[in-house]
Amino acid sequence: MQSVFDSVATQLAQAGSDARRLFHGRGHCYPSFEHLVIDWFAPVAVVRLYQPVETEWLEALCDGLRNFSQIEALIVQQRSRGRDASNELLWGEVAEQQQASESGLLYQVKPHRNQNSGLFLDMREGRQWVRQQAQGQRVLNLFAYTCSFSVAALAGGAEHVVNVDMARNMLNVGRENHRLNGFDGSQVTFLGYDIFRSWKRIRQLGPYDLIVIDPPSFQPGSFVAEKDYRKVVRRLPELTDPGSRVLACHNDPAVGTDFIRELMAQECPDFRFVERLLNPDDFPEQDPEKGLKVMLFEREK
Ligand SMILES: C[S@@+](CC[C@H](N)C(=O)[O-])C[C@H]1O[C@@H](n2cnc3c(N)ncnc32)[C@H](O)[C@@H]1O
Repeated sequence: MQSVFDSVATQLAQAGSDARRLFHGRGHCYPSFEHLVIDWFAPVAVVRLYQPVETEWLEALCDGLRNFSQIEALIVQQRSRGRDASNELLWGEVAEQQQASESGLLYQVKPHRNQNSGLFLDMREGRQWVRQQAQGQRVLNLFAYTCSFSVAALAGGAEHVVNVDMARNMLNVGRENHRLNGFDGSQVTFLGYDIFRSWKRIRQLGPYDLIVIDPPSFQPGSFVAEKDYRKVVRRLPELTDPGSRVLACHNDPAVGTDFIRELMAQECPDFRFVERLLNPDDFPEQDPEKGLKVMLFEREK
């Protein structure tokens, strides 16, 4: 278990008050810890367990984490399905909602939530890239969720961002995220609709210089990447101009980078693959093809 505490110490030192993953067992770089993840929403640490563990093992883990004075509260989530699912506050106090910081920007998060807390920590480099590239750009943020890409784009000087997500409650959190960072809304549009029923409106607000596509892998009834990703990619020519760029993301461990490269080659032959963005160093992966894939394409000029 010392390797877990070493990772926590290293990541806490780098994180300071920024949100970060303290331990990423799911990347298979730590044998026998594949079921363990620890996230950091300062000053709260969240232990997520993806299979049942022995009580003594969990006690040893939590005792070790108590030695880190920065961790003022600890939540343990058992994420196995069915009756084993649980969410327990072991010590400290945690508000229902708090603010997480990342590179000087603020986001609303709910550390208690068993599913998504409000900010996908593995997308940090993607947000940073968008922020660095957004100056003067018209941005389309598809599958926007809580609009963290939009906040990053505006922080980087984007001219306008269109956020599309069918989860209106998540877009409301997105509105709050904009307010938190001092963006008044005049440069942002929120479309709370199913993307597949909104192409006309999305097209009317374009064309776009930069498009982010970051869908779920598998959300039955809404988006199943295997069949639906192609339907999004097919729309890119009518939403872009020559020189426009697309950040196409996919987070299915069972699918490698070829999936998106082939879709793009088949549906958008005038887009060239530029690069795959690196994932953050707090998400080590034994097999990079299984980790988050963030792929940059550019339309020929
Ligand atoms: C992986 S999250 C997106 C994360 C987001 N890009 C970010 O950086 O935080 C996927 C989102 O896709 C949305 N979604 C799934 N199917 C959709 C559809 N058909 N139309 C619009 N939104 C959809 C979900 O509501 C969810 O918020």
